[in-house]
Amino acid sequence: MRTPSIAITVAGAIAITPSVLAIPHQQSLYNGYNGLSTPAAEFYDDSIPARVTSTVWSTLTSLFGQSHSPVQVIKNAPGVKLLDSGFPTADIDSVAAPRFVLYGDQDVAEQSYGAPPYWNITGFNVFNLAFWTVKFGVADNAQKFAAKSDADKKWFKSRYAGAGMKLMVSVFGATDTPQSLGKNATALGKTIAAFVKKNGLDGVDVDYEEMDLFGAGKSTPWLIELTRSLRKELPSPDYIITHAPVAPWFNTQMYPNGYTTIHQQVGDLIDWYNVQFYNQENYNTCDELIWNSGNNFPLTSLFEINKYSGVPLDKLVVGKPAWENDADDGFMRPSVEGACLKIAVQNGWKGGAMFWEYPHMTPHRLSVITDAAGLS
Ligand SMILES: *[C@@H]1O[C@H](CO)[C@@H](O)[C@H](O)[C@H]1NC(C)=O
Ligand SMILES: *[C@@H]1O[C@H](CO)[C@@H](O)[C@H](O)[C@H]1NC(C)=O
Repeated sequence: MRTPSIAITVAGAIAITPSVLAIPHQQSLYNGYNGLSTPAAEFYDDSIPARVTSTVWSTLTSLFGQSHSPVQVIKNAPGVKLLDSGFPTADIDSVAAPRFVLYGDQDVAEQSYGAPPYWNITGFNVFNLAFWTVKFGVADNAQKFAAKSDADKKWFKSRYAGAGMKLMVSVFGATDTPQSLGKNATALGKTIAAFVKKNGLDGVDVDYEEMDLFGAGKSTPWLIELTRSLRKELPSPDYIITHAPVAPWFNTQMYPNGYTTIHQQVGDLIDWYNVQFYNQENYNTCDELIWNSGNNFPLTSLFEINKYSGVPLDKLVVGKPAWENDADDGFMRPSVEGACLKIAVQNGWKGGAMFWEYPHMTPHRLSVITDAAGLS
């Protein structure tokens, strides 16, 4: 058994410039591959991927007496596999509950990949790059990631993979109007799936927010067709498909042709729902969130959606603003949210938690919630 100090020495041996000391995740993968117990200390530097060439890899591998190409090393690293797109991913089927999902639409200057380094969001297992849109094209953080080279994307993705984390793209969002713009859902699904594969992502989150159309009952067939098309192109379990409805849309009286119908028709194609329990002047108390959503939007608390819409508890991920200013309402302090979710956990739920948005949600804030809730 090699000791970590040998691994560090080897990394140092090829460290011609200080930057090469930054071989963080590669070292971790390599240590794992070689059965080293402790990964080398890791740190993040946006510029690493460009420097981690196959020459660096082969130097490392030959120093270890191995003769594997980078792709083979990634392929053989514990916990990492390759998608059919040729990009690395965490070797887990979808992501089992509890899921901890974080969206990132806001620009964070130092993050040239559009997503934070995996260690910056410890505790989360899904990061949603926002947004791929019809109206504005590939926007914001999705655009930042897409702009990277394939080699860079593979490198970045291998880090997420090694950490057991999935990187997805969220489509549409509040400002997009994909259906009003007349997009055929089958064709759109193919276009989105092609984007997912081209960029080595793990799947797509459907954040459809055409409120008027939805209220008129016109969105459901379109969303069902879109989901079928996406799943055909992005098979389970390698690829993840989630939806991010606002909680009221599950109410069958107000939305007779709403999300309950979508769930009945294509729920088996959807891994889970990132339910938006915010911006609704509702779900501000524990009771409204967990048991009894009250008069504005009845029967749409967590357990009511389970009971009246038939969505399995494991597929219900509770979405909240990370900070008070991230939404008009619905924010709960971490300790309060944790105490609420504890009630849900005690009653058999462990779906997980979603937050809008990075960088306001930190590993510490998440751990306050999960510790209080007993959710892990
Ligand atoms: C979208 O296009 C496909 C064929 O590409 C077609 O089968 C489907 O009916 C169209 N959807 C609608 C709502 O017209
Ligand atoms: C890490 O996360 C915090 C917020 O949680 C953010 O302010 C900081 O810029 C991040 N650091 C890096 C290097 O991404």
